[in-house]
Amino acid sequence: MNAVIVCKSVSHGNTRKVAEVIGEVLGAKVVDPAEIGPAELAGYDLVGFGSGVRNMDFYPELRKFARALPDGQRGKAFVFNTSGFPEPGFRRYRRNFTATLERKGFEILDSFSCYGYDTFLPLMIVGGVRKGHPDAADLAAARTFAEGLRERIAG
Ligand SMILES: Cc1cc2nc3c(=O)[nH]c(=O)nc-3n(C[C@H](O)[C@H](O)[C@H](O)COP(=O)(O)O)c2cc1C
Repeated sequence: MNAVIVCKSVSHGNTRKVAEVIGEVLGAKVVDPAEIGPAELAGYDLVGFGSGVRNMDFYPELRKFARALPDGQRGKAFVFNTSGFPEPGFRRYRRNFTATLERKGFEILDSFSCYGYDTFLPLMIVGGVRKGHPDAADLAAARTFAEGLRERIAG
């Protein structure tokens, strides 16, 4: 399987930690959106898209990258994120991002999310929230997620 993970991780490298674990299982390299051209994705059977969350959305660099992808993508994809809080029902940012990929032609296999240490300024009054995340259990869950993907691709 030829897989790649496009990951934007800014605050603490939280999402990057998750990306590295998934990448290890899938044998996929992890790149920042600035390191790969949208047209290059055509060479991969499986593409992962990972992001932290800021102001209730994926990072703008990753959203811009997804919007710039050529139409008619034929590959399979998955999406993952870390965040300080669960995705709110009134702002389905993961679904919105997934919909962009689907419009481009990707078949979305699955998605994964976990908490990441959150130092959004007002939260620093209490020293931030989700300290230590992604923790060992989060990374184990990411590994299990990736193993599931690998089985589906192989099967
Ligand atoms: C300025 C700022 C804004 C954030 N906004 C949100 C938010 O709207 N919702 C949320 O759940 N987490 C929010 N977070 C928490 C981040 O999504 C979380 O820390 C994430 O793990 C960061 O990933 P990264 O280290 O890979 O960049 C925010 C963090 C910062 C610093």
